[in-house]
Amino acid sequence: MKALVLAGGTGSRLRPLTHTSAKQLVPIANKPVLFYGIESLVAAGITDIGIVTGGTAAEIEATVGDGSRFGARVTYLPQGEPLGLAHAVLIARDWLGEDDFVMYLGDNIIVDGIDELVADFHAPRPDARVLLAKVADPCAFGVAELDPEGRVVRLEEKPRAPRSDLALVGVYLFTPVVHRAIRAISPSARGELEITDALQWLVAHDYVVRPTVITGYWKDTGNAADMLEANRCVLESVVPARLGSVDAASELVGRVRVEPGAKIVRSRIVGPAVIGGDSVITDSHIGASTAVGRDCVITGSEVEFSIVLDGSRIDHAGRLEGSLIGRGVEVSGARRAPRAHRLVLADHSKVQLTS
Ligand code: DAU
Repeated sequence: MKALVLAGGTGSRLRPLTHTSAKQLVPIANKPVLFYGIESLVAAGITDIGIVTGGTAAEIEATVGDGSRFGARVTYLPQGEPLGLAHAVLIARDWLGEDDFVMYLGDNIIVDGIDELVADFHAPRPDARVLLAKVADPCAFGVAELDPEGRVVRLEEKPRAPRSDLALVGVYLFTPVVHRAIRAISPSARGELEITDALQWLVAHDYVVRPTVITGYWKDTGNAADMLEANRCVLESVVPARLGSVDAASELVGRVRVEPGAKIVRSRIVGPAVIGGDSVITDSHIGASTAVGRDCVITGSEVEFSIVLDGSRIDHAGRLEGSLIGRGVEVSGARRAPRAHRLVLADHSKVQLTS
């Protein structure tokens, strides 16, 4: 079995964060989203991996390399234009040959992995297998309708009036019959060759499309809110470690990972959180649910439920919350006259001041 990982497209919904960088490379808990997918595939025993690339091919290739670091063999398959998920399969046709394959969307994270799904694809071997998850906003996804016996009867891409709350998750298992379906369909109203239409073609022609509703955590990291949420969730299982230095005036609470070379000075880090290598955190409060990249300098600030990418500086910025900070960003507090507190405190009082 092979895997086709889709890492093309433009990432426009994440601009300006990704205008120089592929959205699949944005770090979640300090690791590119795409790596979680590749690791899941390798864990499921699939090591022959084709990666579809677009305008950000150079960055993807430089970051993933030949796949040997994952124990995989990676082949790059350039897609001239992002003309749809089924189009990506079309351009990979020769590489895929007559093999069964997993199609994995490079911006998806499935926290529980896909081992079981891949393992029991082989036994009854349906023509295709789709993963579904209940979502609150089905209009933003491909949506599947099941009959009372749980068979897929209808699939629609981003419907205005969804017939169910079951979204297609970005992992699909296919036998080579999907190539027939893709040859038979035409581009949708938005000009894309939709994999949803290819699946609908299979259903309409009595091929077996087996659905599995997953309950574990899944996230399409296509926008900032989803990325923060994926980051929060992945951080829940971060392995705590104190690989950098933490001075005596600092405190680490809960699951906190301090990477090698990082320095924590007079600061409080509340997990789950990760502080990237060589970052320096001084007089600050970080966390919870925050990932700070490498080589960042955070001074006199509070950062919570946020992602801060490599090389950024946050200097006396007050409190940042729910923020996505790109690479090499500088955030600093406006200088202003210090506010005075006038206090008359009895002996042994304790007060907490908001700055
Ligand atoms: O995340 C699940 C959803 O993914 C499904 O529910 C939808 O049915 C499916 O169409 C897809 O919707 P998105 O709008 O999220 O797809 P997006 O354009 O973000 O593309 C998903 C990945 O595939 C992303 O890593 C970019 C890549 N891609 C996309 C297109 C259109 C390509 O490599 N080539 C392409 O032509």
